[in-house]
Amino acid sequence: MGASASTEPVLYNPFEPGYPEDPYRQFAALREADPVHESMAGPWILFRYDDVNRLLRDASLSVEEDRSAREGPRAEAFERLLAEFDQGEDRRTRGTRAMLNVDPPDHTRLRRLVSKAFTPRMIEGLRPLVERLVDEHLDAVADRGRLDVIADLAFPLPFTVISEMLGMPDADRDLLRDWSHAIVKLLDPVISDDEVREAFVSSDHMTDHVHEVIAWKRAHPADDLLTALIRAEEDGDRLTPEELRDQVVLLFIAGHETTVNLIGNGTLALLRHPDQLTRWRDDPALDANAVDELLRYDAPVQFSRRITVAPLEIGGRTVPERTFVLAGLASANRDPARWGPTADHLDLGRSDAGQHVSFGSGTHFCLGAALARLEGQVAMGRLIRRFDALALADPGPEWNGRMNLRGLARLPVTFTPGRTPS
Ligand code: HEM
Repeated sequence: MGASASTEPVLYNPFEPGYPEDPYRQFAALREADPVHESMAGPWILFRYDDVNRLLRDASLSVEEDRSAREGPRAEAFERLLAEFDQGEDRRTRGTRAMLNVDPPDHTRLRRLVSKAFTPRMIEGLRPLVERLVDEHLDAVADRGRLDVIADLAFPLPFTVISEMLGMPDADRDLLRDWSHAIVKLLDPVISDDEVREAFVSSDHMTDHVHEVIAWKRAHPADDLLTALIRAEEDGDRLTPEELRDQVVLLFIAGHETTVNLIGNGTLALLRHPDQLTRWRDDPALDANAVDELLRYDAPVQFSRRITVAPLEIGGRTVPERTFVLAGLASANRDPARWGPTADHLDLGRSDAGQHVSFGSGTHFCLGAALARLEGQVAMGRLIRRFDALALADPGPEWNGRMNLRGLARLPVTFTPGRTPS
C-alpha cells in the first residue's frame, strides 16, 4: 500500500502481504487518501468514524439485497454459481429473512420477538453459567501449562452458551463449526468461486440441521428461546417457517463466530501489551472498560453493510442508488479524527472506549452486545487472573483467513502450570 503522499491510487486490497495480521496500516492509508472508496470488487467502503456512524444510523438505507441491490460483479458471480446447484431458488432466499437482512416494519417484529431473551436481566442471569463454563475450561488445562486460547476457551464458550439459550443440543460441534466458518466467508468483501461453492454446500447442511433441531424441539418444548420462537411460528401471523429458520441460523452463527474473535483478538492484544494485561489483572474496576477498549482496538467484525435506495451524499462523494456500502467498523475505531493521536494505542483506561462501533449502530445495533461483553469479560478476566506468566508460545498465532470476521484460528499460550484461582 502506497503512503498517502504517493501519486499511486490507494486501493482496498485484502490480499496485500501482511493484511491478515495488520489491516490497520492499509485502513490508515485509505482513511487519508480515499475515505469513501469504491472498491474493485464492487462495494463502496467507508473508512472514517463519522461517515461510518452516519451510514449505520441512516434509516432511509436498506439491508434487503433482493429488493434493493443493483446487479454487480458479485451478484453476477452468485447467479452463475447458483446455476451449478439444484434447488437454486431455495438457496437464493435462504437467510434473507434473518433480521440482519430485513428492513422495518418486518425487522421491528422479528427483533421484538427475539429480544425478550436478551434483556439485561436475562443476560445477567446467564453469568453463573458463563463463569462455570470458563472455570471448567481453565481447569482442564491448568496442569498442562499450555492452552490454545481458541480451541480450549474462545470457541467452546460462546458455542455452548448460545446452544443453551436456544435449547439446542450442544452436539456435532466440529461439524457445525466447519459449516459456520464456510458460511460466514460470504460476508467478506471479496470471495472466490470455490469459497462461494463451499458456503452453499455448508448452508445446505446447516439448514438440514436446523430443520431437524426445530422438529426435535417441537416434540420436546422447554423454557428456552427456540421454544418461544416455535410458539410464535405456530401462532401463524407472527413468524413464518422461513423466518423461524433464518433467525435460528443467524443467532447460532452470530452467537459464536464473533465472540470467539473478541476473546482471541483481545487476548492476543493483551499478550502483546503486558503492561495493560497487568493493569487489568490488578484492577477489577477496569473489567467493563477493558473489554470495550479491546473491542475498539481489534474489532471482531470488521465491516457491516447497508444498501442505498437513492443516491447518497457522504464524505464529499455521491454513492449511486442500489449500491452496497460497507461500514469500515475496524477502521472507524482507529480514526485519529475521533480518537486523537493515541488512536492506535491500547489503553484499557480510555475514558470513551465504549464509543467504538464494533457492535454497529442504529436499527441493527448488535442484539447480543451485552452477552458478548459478559462472555469477553469473564473469559479474559479469569484467564489473566488465574494463570501466572501467560505468554505467546511457539508456533505463534495463526489467522483464520477471513476479512470480515477476522480472527485467530489458533492462539497457543504458555503459563506456569497448576496455579489455583486466587
Ligand atoms: C463480540 C461479539 C459480537 C460482535 C462484535 C457483534 C457485532 C455485530 C454487528 C457489527 C452487527 C450489525 C450491526 C449493524 O449493522 O449496525 C450485529 C448484529 C447482530 N448481532 Fe452481534 N456481535 C457480537 C456478538 C453477538 C452475539 C453473542 C449474538 C447473539 C447471541 C449476536 C446477535 C446479533 C444479532 C441477532 C444481530 C442482528 C441485529 C439486527 O439486525 O437488528 N451478536 N452484531
